[in-house]
Amino acid sequence: MGPTENVIETDPPTPAVVAHRAELDARREAVRAELAAFVPAGAQLVWEVGCGHGHFLTAYAAAHRDAQCVGVDTELDRIRRAVRKQERARLSNLYFVRTEARLFLEALPTDATLAAVFVLFPDPWPKRRHHKHRLLQENFLREIAARAAPGTPFYFRTDHEPYFRAVEAVLREHADWRLAPGDPWPFEQPTVFQARAAAHFSLVARRR
Ligand SMILES: C[S@@+](CC[C@H](N)C(=O)[O-])C[C@H]1O[C@@H](n2cnc3c(N)ncnc32)[C@H](O)[C@@H]1O
Repeated sequence: MGPTENVIETDPPTPAVVAHRAELDARREAVRAELAAFVPAGAQLVWEVGCGHGHFLTAYAAAHRDAQCVGVDTELDRIRRAVRKQERARLSNLYFVRTEARLFLEALPTDATLAAVFVLFPDPWPKRRHHKHRLLQENFLREIAARAAPGTPFYFRTDHEPYFRAVEAVLREHADWRLAPGDPWPFEQPTVFQARAAAHFSLVARRR
């Protein structure tokens, strides 16, 4: 179970809920320790959520040596491939961490902020009854905003037009973000999912 999954809360909590909380606490602490080892004090991170095999962020970090880049993904084999790319390219400004995105935010050192956020081809969960599993929703965007200074860019790209329109609508009404339709896409490097897609949609938003 991840932090985004539903656990029925009861009072007192069931043994399953207690075990789930303990597991999350342990995972959060493990990520916190991992991040403490490489996130410098006061870091301003370029964060890619759901980085997959790391194609995009490896190229981005190579082209932006002054940027501290962190990619996260829940899938171990994808993170392993991404780490191999980082090692081959000998990029000291790039890290990949296997973690769930919200857990990452919770584990991030308190003085670290997000300089830019990329979410590229997140799982679209096309069936209506599965929309609740979509990562990009009002509350997750609020959690990102809590670690971002005014003006921080948020970059979203997908090949699934209904998901694109839904995220666009959430951002249009969001208290923490404004759509920035005139802002350019900052860096092109096709991801695995982009290479498979016939077309895609991109948007830029900025922290209010
Ligand atoms: C459709 S793939 C896209 C991968 C890559 N961005 C690309 O464009 O090729 C979505 C990725 O997001 C990851 N993912 C899904 N939910 C996540 C979450 N809550 N936290 C971190 N990664 C997540 C999945 O494991 C998967 O690798």
